[in-house]
Amino acid sequence: MPGITINDVGPRDGLQNQQKILSPDERVQLIRALLAAGLRHVEAGSFVSPKAVPAMAGADRVLAGLKNEFAAVFTVLVPNFRGYELAREAGAKRVNAVVYGSEGMAQANVGMSRQQADEAASLIADQAGQDGIGVMVTIAVAFECPFDGPVSSGLVEKSARRFLELGAEEISIADTIGAAHPGQVRALTASLVERHGVDRFSCHFHDTRAMGLANVFAALESGIRKFDAAIGGLGGCPFAPGASGNVATEDVVMMLEQMGFDTGIDLRGLMRASALARDLTGTAPGGRARPWLERHLA
Ligand code: COA
Ligand code: ZN
Repeated sequence: MPGITINDVGPRDGLQNQQKILSPDERVQLIRALLAAGLRHVEAGSFVSPKAVPAMAGADRVLAGLKNEFAAVFTVLVPNFRGYELAREAGAKRVNAVVYGSEGMAQANVGMSRQQADEAASLIADQAGQDGIGVMVTIAVAFECPFDGPVSSGLVEKSARRFLELGAEEISIADTIGAAHPGQVRALTASLVERHGVDRFSCHFHDTRAMGLANVFAALESGIRKFDAAIGGLGGCPFAPGASGNVATEDVVMMLEQMGFDTGIDLRGLMRASALARDLTGTAPGGRARPWLERHLA
């Protein structure tokens, strides 16, 4: 069966936006539940200002709590070079640097211009290369920005090319606010894949308008084989008005497995992780298929 890689971003994208702040130990517990379900790629946290995102404080303790989990690849988000240095000190092996499809989102998220964020990501990519740390680059608001409106696909393609050339091992195309539709997703991903191949692309969708799975499907048709998703449909960016949760890991895995793809993930284990996410946060909505999954997996 053809394989698909799922990267669970719940412990970062999901938890950063929750009212209830989880301790590093609780975050480790949630990540362990994901690993127990068969997840091998997890975004474990972010090295951002604790004033900007209090829920991500203690990311170093999360990494420390996972140091014996050798079977998984943990990535941490870094918004600037300072974040990269802190991640490196904490022993991170892989970082996610973020660039932006718009000025408005770059300003709102990190108080930088697009160009400054590009330069920060270039410096991070360069230093990570020297330090032997893996680096991926997320292109945030790759379709539409909540402040500046539609984003041109030409701009995203240029950004993708630049960071591939700079050695990013992966480019994540992120629909940060869940504004994309499958036609746009198919057009952009098909064009990227035609130019650069599929190996170094992934997609990150939010389910704000119930198009999360449709967008996964559109990207899948272009050949994309790596997707972000968040356990329990947690998620959202505190700095992007209107963004709701990521597409739920359990929904994505259910669809892909039924289509005959191999994710290596056990749905029963995922439902346990989803229940834990709900217990810990009090808010994780669960995937759209939760009632069906609960009945069929019981
Ligand atoms: N992690 C922790 N602390 C950081 C940091 C980082 N990555 N980058 C800067 N800081 C600290 C500085 O050392 C400084 O500390 P001090 O007040 O004790 O001297 C303080 O934060 C202010 O630094 P400054 O460079 O002026 O940053 P800022 O206040 O303009 O904030 C960011 C910029 C990028 C740090 C902040 O906007 C941020 O963390 N944004 C992340 C947003 C996010 O996570 N969005 C969702 C994920 S995409
Ligand atoms: Zn997101």
